[in-house]
Amino acid sequence: MSDLMVDPASIGQQAQVPSVRPQESRTGMVRVGVIGYGYWGPNIVRNLQGQQNAQAVMVCDQNPAALARARKAHPSIETVSNPLDILRSPDIDAVAVITPVWTHYELAKMALENGKHVFIEKPFTSSSAQAEELIELAARKRLTVMVDHTFLFTGAVRKIRELTESGALGDLYYYDSLRVNLGLFQHDVSVIWDLAPHDLSIMDHIIRAEPEAIVATGEKHLNGVEDVAFMTIYFPRNVIAHINVNWLSPVKIRTTLIGGQKKMVVWNDLVADEKVRVYDRGVEITSGEGIRDLLVSYRSGDMWAPQLEQLEALHVEMGYFAECIMNNKVPFNDGHAGLRVVRMLEAADKSIRRKGELIRL
Ligand SMILES: NC(=O)c1ccc[n+]([C@@H]2O[C@H](COP(=O)([O-])OP(=O)(O)OC[C@H]3O[C@@H](n4cnc5c(N)ncnc54)[C@H](O)[C@@H]3O)[C@@H](O)[C@H]2O)c1
Repeated sequence: MSDLMVDPASIGQQAQVPSVRPQESRTGMVRVGVIGYGYWGPNIVRNLQGQQNAQAVMVCDQNPAALARARKAHPSIETVSNPLDILRSPDIDAVAVITPVWTHYELAKMALENGKHVFIEKPFTSSSAQAEELIELAARKRLTVMVDHTFLFTGAVRKIRELTESGALGDLYYYDSLRVNLGLFQHDVSVIWDLAPHDLSIMDHIIRAEPEAIVATGEKHLNGVEDVAFMTIYFPRNVIAHINVNWLSPVKIRTTLIGGQKKMVVWNDLVADEKVRVYDRGVEITSGEGIRDLLVSYRSGDMWAPQLEQLEALHVEMGYFAECIMNNKVPFNDGHAGLRVVRMLEAADKSIRRKGELIRL
């Protein structure tokens, strides 16, 4: 296990699944069939090939050009155009579903019904009802479901989580994220379902509290789905989050501020060095007798940029997937984590339809 692997003890969400599993890899390797070799699929296959405990053995795509690319990059991997070849293969332990969101539920359901563990793209499903059904099916079949919340495996998010868990930031005040760029337009989902899952899964991982309510606004300009949107999420103890996602931005920005009572973080994911900066800055207010006696003091201490782990997030995540399967561990980014994100996305859609009405979760 690499030292970037997530330490289960630090996650606090582990639960053991029964030890009898329907599929056992005969080779000490988790053999994965990957469905979908478009934009993101090649990254999954490449990162599976670098593992000691997992390998991609088959790639499926209904597009012949995609399969030709797969064969060129990985001549040893079998390519097929029908997902059933993967879903029914006795030589495959797990299926990676790297196709558009509207296909996730059907493909994952068939994989589970055929006794395969599932690695599935974000967002988990198109609805919470679908997610609940897959979670129930996986539990009944004693199979692992992992949702690709890739950012949770980056050095930056792992460091931020370490800072929040250790109490270094103090009580959290807010999470504020700007995730904007020009495109890539998706045909089946809005900008919220495309980009916000990153922030929602990161928030879920570091705030570690159930959100209470959501307000969202957004507009459609080009192809019938929201391409610009703003979400506000309310958590217990006055923690508030704001996410700005936009496919119509002239420039790409990936900047997140996380404010705590003791320290504040600025995470700029686009810079090579000092992606995460921790500021010893804050405000303290002490009150005297009356309102005029309020004393505001500003603290402006040092800034430091912690060292971040450099391994590719997907490499770490694919290794963790295989490790969870082999050791009967429930991943922290399991179906329940995927469902929590889908519930927030659904609430955001509802709020947008009602022009920013507060939706309780
Ligand atoms: N984790 C991340 O950071 C990240 C980044 C990009 C995309 N994604 C997710 O990955 C998924 C795929 O996105 P993409 O951008 O690669 O899409 P894409 O359209 O570029 O690729 C999807 C591929 O799946 C194939 N396909 C679709 N239905 C199929 C089926 N039933 N059987 C076989 N092949 C099928 C298509 O031919 C296509 O080649 C989406 O869920 C998206 O949200 C995640």
